[in-house]
Amino acid sequence: MEVLAEESNKEKEQSEKETTEALMDEKRIYRPLPEMVVNANIDPNDYENAVKKGKTDLEGFWEEAAMELDWFRKWDKVLDRSEAPFFKWFVNAKTNIAYNALDRHVKTHRKNKVALIFESEGGQRSRMTYYDLYRASNMVANALTSLGITKGDRVSIYLPNIPHIAIAMLACAKVGAIHSVVYAGFSAIALRDRVNDAEAKVIITADGFNRNGKVVKLKEVVDDAMLDCPSVETVVVVKWADIPVDMSDGRYVWYEDLMEGVSKEFKTVEMDANDPLFILYTSGTTGKPKGVVHSHGGYMVGVNRSLKWVFDIKETDIFWCAADPGWITGHSYIVYAPLVLGTTTVMYEGHPLFPGPDRMWQIIEKYGVNILYTAPTTIRMLMRFGSQRLKKHNLSTLRLLGTVGEPINPEAWVWYYKNVGNQNCPVMDTWWQTETGMFMVAPTPCNVLKPGSAFKPFPGVHVDVVDAHGEPVEPGKGGHVIVKEPWPAMLTTLYKDPEKYKDVYWSKIPGVYLAGDIATKDKDGYFWFQGRSDDVLKIAGHRIGTAEVESALVSHKHVAEAACIGVPDKVRGEVAQLFVILKEGVEEDEDALVNELKAHVRKMLGPIVVIKGIDFKDKLPKTRSGKIMRRVLKAQELGLKEGDLSTLED
Ligand code: WT7
Repeated sequence: MEVLAEESNKEKEQSEKETTEALMDEKRIYRPLPEMVVNANIDPNDYENAVKKGKTDLEGFWEEAAMELDWFRKWDKVLDRSEAPFFKWFVNAKTNIAYNALDRHVKTHRKNKVALIFESEGGQRSRMTYYDLYRASNMVANALTSLGITKGDRVSIYLPNIPHIAIAMLACAKVGAIHSVVYAGFSAIALRDRVNDAEAKVIITADGFNRNGKVVKLKEVVDDAMLDCPSVETVVVVKWADIPVDMSDGRYVWYEDLMEGVSKEFKTVEMDANDPLFILYTSGTTGKPKGVVHSHGGYMVGVNRSLKWVFDIKETDIFWCAADPGWITGHSYIVYAPLVLGTTTVMYEGHPLFPGPDRMWQIIEKYGVNILYTAPTTIRMLMRFGSQRLKKHNLSTLRLLGTVGEPINPEAWVWYYKNVGNQNCPVMDTWWQTETGMFMVAPTPCNVLKPGSAFKPFPGVHVDVVDAHGEPVEPGKGGHVIVKEPWPAMLTTLYKDPEKYKDVYWSKIPGVYLAGDIATKDKDGYFWFQGRSDDVLKIAGHRIGTAEVESALVSHKHVAEAACIGVPDKVRGEVAQLFVILKEGVEEDEDALVNELKAHVRKMLGPIVVIKGIDFKDKLPKTRSGKIMRRVLKAQELGLKEGDLSTLED
């Protein structure tokens, strides 16, 4: 890659400006190196043709992508719009994503290829071949069947970043059960709510895991949740951290005991392409998380094609998506897409800075990682340690870099590109969501890049920026991000709440999918994402609804009313600032109360909610109908005038 235009003081200047205008002033562009283009899965010509085909023949484009996969029965129709927005992809087709991820590979040269490289926080490695993973998930599929799990049943998975999580997900898929992974950093209450909404019959969890040099006692969290999870018949516990746990409740069983004598063969269940594969809960603008549902067929086609093209996956690649399987990034791009493509995926249990800031570089060097996909917050965190440490590691195997989760500031992009990628690896900034399942706006390695921009919509995906009436906005003007046509990996509904699915995504601007983000397009058609337009925060890339934080706060005995806003943070992107009206007569020490309320929110939601501060107020700004005006609080907090409010949020 060659740097075309680089202005010397640009980097410094950029970090001082934080508005979109500053982002769009970004003049640097990066062209792909010729050898990258020559070897790419799709070259610039193919790319142009794909974009054209995606526009003129949407169904033909995705049908071609589907032909790369294995089906027990092909579709009668590629896309059925008759019950829009409940679109059906690959109508009447029969498949199973786990069959595509495992079963079909063990009949080929991939049988003995490494599917999964695992590194524990303590530095132990293990590798599983496709055959190992196939047999392990068959065993769990058999065990689940013996526990009475059949097609359509829900299984909650509350596991850390260890191979068992991938095995459990694949096993559920094989049985036809719907998995609902709950991120291992969520609290007992958050777990309980998700288990109960899904009415899960089984939970798969572990005794504990290692994070930042400490053992997290996961099973104790489950014990708390289980006090009120009536649907759960069995809790399967993986022995991982080897800590004492209480197994006295009749519903608890050790994973290892359950696997004893279980057959290593299992006949993968044939699923309809539109049968649900998983539920993944995500925050929205109400206090209750939404259960986003994804299917076997369309999801598989979307994640496979998008990973293959954006990260240019080759047979020999070692792909490391340094996310957690508890989020959509991990579902789509640690587990499903890499395995369906038959590549080698890397999983790391621990904290990226444990035992020191070299950890990620060590892992890349140790395994010869070719592609690294991580979050802007991690890049910014590592940037603080400078580039000296990086130079001690041989990162020459890297070919491509990627980011996801929140806007990446150009400084972080350029630092990543220069220091991690040694100016050889294009940075794929991928914009997508839990709901979209797959990359929606993202480049391929043959495109010309601008740092801070996620490039343009992926071929066959119709993302645009419009005003509140759905009219396209001029270049450089902010607007709502929408998707104008269905795409195969789209959510099929919200679990048990189809009305809400219609209402949240398809009715505010009729006929199109509303993403809830604001962005601008520049004159070249490049997208610049700015953040959410709704009351959803992005803390270190994690999505947290202000309403969830507020309802956690008001559940505290001293709190009468509460408001939560996001304020900028250099490393995490955004953190939460809270405002609280106390109940009358509360006379506790303020500092003690701040600590107590912080601990309370943590207990209710988990440590992902990073709180900057709590202010006690007598009044909160409200509309006439009594809605808290978070925009006003935000303007006050950031020292803006009322007149600047329009620049904050829609
Ligand atoms: C929201 C979705 C998709 C996997 C991780 C997050 C923000 C995501 C980018 C990006 C700017 C981004 C958006 C989006 N976002 N990727 N490349 N540039 N913003 O999944 O938790 O469902 O969050 O993350 O605001 O709506 P999620």
